Formats: sequence, structure tokens, C-alpha cells
Amino acid sequence: MDREQELAIVRRAYAKQIMVPLKAADPRVEAAFAVVRREAFLGPGPWPILHFDRYVTTPSDDPVYLYQDALVGIIPERSLNNGQPSLHAMLIAAAAPRPGEHVVHIGAGVGYYTAILAHMVGESGRVTAIEFDGGLAEQLAANFAGQPNVRASQGDGAQIEFDPADVIYVNAGTTRPADIWLDRLKDGGRLILPLTSDKGFGENPENIPIQRRGAVFGIVRRSNEFLARWLSAVAIFPCEGARDAESERVLAAAFEKGGWEQVTRLYRHGDLAAEQCWLNAPDWALAYA
Ligand SMILES: C[S@@+](CC[C@H](N)C(=O)[O-])C[C@H]1O[C@@H](n2cnc3c(N)ncnc32)[C@H](O)[C@@H]1O
Repeated sequence: MDREQELAIVRRAYAKQIMVPLKAADPRVEAAFAVVRREAFLGPGPWPILHFDRYVTTPSDDPVYLYQDALVGIIPERSLNNGQPSLHAMLIAAAAPRPGEHVVHIGAGVGYYTAILAHMVGESGRVTAIEFDGGLAEQLAANFAGQPNVRASQGDGAQIEFDPADVIYVNAGTTRPADIWLDRLKDGGRLILPLTSDKGFGENPENIPIQRRGAVFGIVRRSNEFLARWLSAVAIFPCEGARDAESERVLAAAFEKGGWEQVTRLYRHGDLAAEQCWLNAPDWALAYA
């Protein structure tokens, strides 16, 4: 057996392991993780792997070290990481990209999860991958050169124009949904939306539990209504351009209050009774009904 065949087996085992935290198995997500080569995106090893609160360099450049449920530093000095595989498996399962669909991936980094999404939509679908950081966006574009179903671009994913999408997969912490994400979500489309307060990333001197700092919501568009449900706690790199002080204040207060699991709807106005809302901002809300 040659090295690539060995790694193919390792990858299949990894794909199975990272599905364990999902409540229900998702064979399509597992199949994508079983074939996409993480080492093809993260550059030459050894790699910095996040172990509890510090990076540990892998003993060698053997790609086998990448097939664990761990964050890998992309720019470790900025705590900018390739995200945790089991979290992404769960969020991608919730987004459920189907063959032929258009996925917009915001905060694509160097593209490992873009490649998972591209595998799921197949050659009849496409992924628009947007990355804010210039250096990472260059690597992203190079990683997909010659792959026609992925278009990579550099820019602010909260502002940049894109075609209507079946899935919008946001991989950076926002304080509110950008208007363009809700405007461009097709009927039946799914938005994966990480909301984080300023305590959601980096230092945590007050040792606040993760649930009080960040939450990922799954939003589904039904005509002009937006159904919403809490998917996961999260700590994630901030989204440039989609954070403002007023929204952060309202969000932080909502985290203090608790009750995010009961959210069922997102509204694009704030004209709601306070008791109906988990989060009630002047022009948007996450509500219980
Ligand atoms: C947590 S990292 C995730 C990278 C990638 N998804 C991965 O797991 O490998 C978040 C990424 O979002 C990017 N980012 C932040 N704000 C952004 C914005 N407004 N538009 C596009 N990308 C953004 C950052 O530069 C960073 O690469």
C-alpha cells in the first residue's frame, strides 16, 4: 500500500470520528470529509495545532497529524485558525448544500471548508468564496486555480456583491446579519450565522463560559420570513465590517439573559414586544415566535 492509499484510509476514519457529535449521521457530509485533502490547503508542515490554549507544532510534516478534530493555526500570531472539523461538519450538515446549488462562503481562509462545500454541490453547483485578508485571499485563489466550480475573491463579505445563494456559510463572528446576506438568500435558502459579543474571542480574563460569548444560528428563508434556530456555542475570529458597538451591546445583553435555544424567528425590524424577543435591536430581532 502506498502513502496516498494509507492516507485515504486515515481520512475515512477521521471523517467518521468527527461525525460522532452530530445527533444524526449525515452520509453526504461524511463522504466529503473523507475525500478532501486537508494538507492540500494548509501549506507544508509541520503545522501548529491548537491544544487547549496553546499551539503545539506537529512532530513532522506527516499529514496524518491533520486528521484529528483539532484547530490548525493559519496565522497563529493572530489566533486565525482552520476551524474545528466536528463543528464545521455539524454546521455544514445544517446548511445541507445540495448538488447544483450556489454556496457563498464568507471568511473562507485558505479554503479547506470551501473544498468540502464544493464537493457537496458538485460540478453542477458552485461556490463563491470570499476572504478579507489579502494574503490569505491570494492563497485561496491559488488553491482553486483550475477548479471551475469555485470562484475566490478578496473583499468584505458583508458588503461585496454576489449572486442569489442557496447557502450562505459565514465563518467569522458578526454582531448582526449583514443586509446583503438576508437580501441575497433565495427562498428556501439557508444562512449559517455566527453571532459573537466582544468577549467572544481572544482573551477571556473573566473566564465566562463559551455559551455566553457566541452562538451560531441557522436561518432558513421562507418567502419573506426568516426561521431561526440555535445550532451551537462558538468562539470565532471577528468578521470585519459586520460588527458595530450598538449591536454588540444588544447582543452581549442577550447572552447575559440566556434563552437562545428558544429562538425560532429572525425579524428585519425591531417593532416587537420585549417579551417576544431574545434579542431586540432597533431594526432587527431574534424572537421566540
Ligand atoms: C475563523 S477564520 C476561518 C477561516 C476558514 N473558514 C477556516 O476554517 O480555515 C475567519 C476568517 O474570516 C475572515 N474574515 C473576517 N472578516 C471577513 C469579512 N468581512 N469578509 C470576508 N472574510 C472575513 C478572516 O480573515 C479569517 O480568514
